[in-house]
Amino acid sequence: MASPARSSQVTASGAPRAGGSGRLAGRTVSRIGFGAMQLERLHGDRKAAVALLRRCVELGIDHIDTAQFYGDGFVNDVIREALRAEDDVMVVSKVGAEPDPGGPFPLRLAQRPEQLRAGVEDNLKALGVDRIPLVNLRRTDSGPGLRARGDQVVPLDDQLAVMTALRDEGKIGAVGLSSVSLDVLRRALPAGIACVQNAYSLLARTDEDLLGLCEEEGIAWVPYFPLGGAFDGMPKVTDEPAVRAAARELGATPAQVGLAWLLHHAPNVLLIPGTADPGHLKANVAVGEVALDEATLAALDAVPSRPADVAFD
Ligand SMILES: NC(=O)c1ccc[n+]([C@@H]2O[C@H](COP(=O)([O-])OP(=O)(O)OC[C@H]3O[C@@H](n4cnc5c(N)ncnc54)[C@H](OP(=O)(O)O)[C@@H]3O)[C@@H](O)[C@H]2O)c1
Repeated sequence: MASPARSSQVTASGAPRAGGSGRLAGRTVSRIGFGAMQLERLHGDRKAAVALLRRCVELGIDHIDTAQFYGDGFVNDVIREALRAEDDVMVVSKVGAEPDPGGPFPLRLAQRPEQLRAGVEDNLKALGVDRIPLVNLRRTDSGPGLRARGDQVVPLDDQLAVMTALRDEGKIGAVGLSSVSLDVLRRALPAGIACVQNAYSLLARTDEDLLGLCEEEGIAWVPYFPLGGAFDGMPKVTDEPAVRAAARELGATPAQVGLAWLLHHAPNVLLIPGTADPGHLKANVAVGEVALDEATLAALDAVPSRPADVAFD
């Protein structure tokens, strides 16, 4: 049997944890995880999507981020097929939106308490589990994305009441928040918040104060769009001259430098970069080996933040 010290360094499948070990909702996970949203693009090649998830397990990833609205259920369905109980991968989902096939955008907001509950039930069914270890309440207080209007503008307390009820019922293990402001995070703290998932990268750093509060409170910071996202019109970390210069010097790729900066930036950062490409997946896992010296970190820290506030409506 592995000693506790050794077991925190390796996943259940025996691979060294990608990027080392981090903490999420009371569990030890790989600091480098996988954002499953890009698997939507493999809709026509299910075998490739399953293989990519198996590769995650082999490479020491045991934290995967998903949502029922990724590919209208396709992504959760593939996760259910690909992952086995013995892999012990922490699959984290989110609620607050639902699929909208045929709509102007493939998803629409679903912020009302009964919609949040239905979202959790949909995830449980799709993933074939009776409990999801962590579910993020995806709000619309900050960052790019859909804007809430009409009955989709819901008081935080009403949403937290249903999320904590779901936790009390054992359907979810912990509550996270996504796309929230500092004020919302502060107000939500008494409910017990395990992670915050906001849009954040080397190029989008307006949430530095939230990150700091999360670090103080022992809350994981799990940025989405860590490379700037795949959508057109958003600045890409890999295009940034300082990132490209550092990559040349280090013999790494620009994407690796952008992700390494995040890992170096704060100890509570956990990564969920998204990719549909096995080569990129391998490169992202190798980011744990990319050391940034003080001069390189200073050059990267000096890059001005220019977050994209793209509204998808
Ligand atoms: N809470 C929320 O509201 C929310 C919103 C959006 C996303 N998310 C989650 O956050 C995760 C990450 O965000 P994201 O996937 O939108 O954006 P991202 O990770 O910033 O960027 C993904 C893009 O980067 C490319 N990429 C990834 N690794 C690369 C590498 N090593 N070299 C070159 N290019 C690389 C991908 O293309 P290839 O496929 O070609 O590699 C894709 O175009 C998502 O997958 C999802 O799980 C959460």
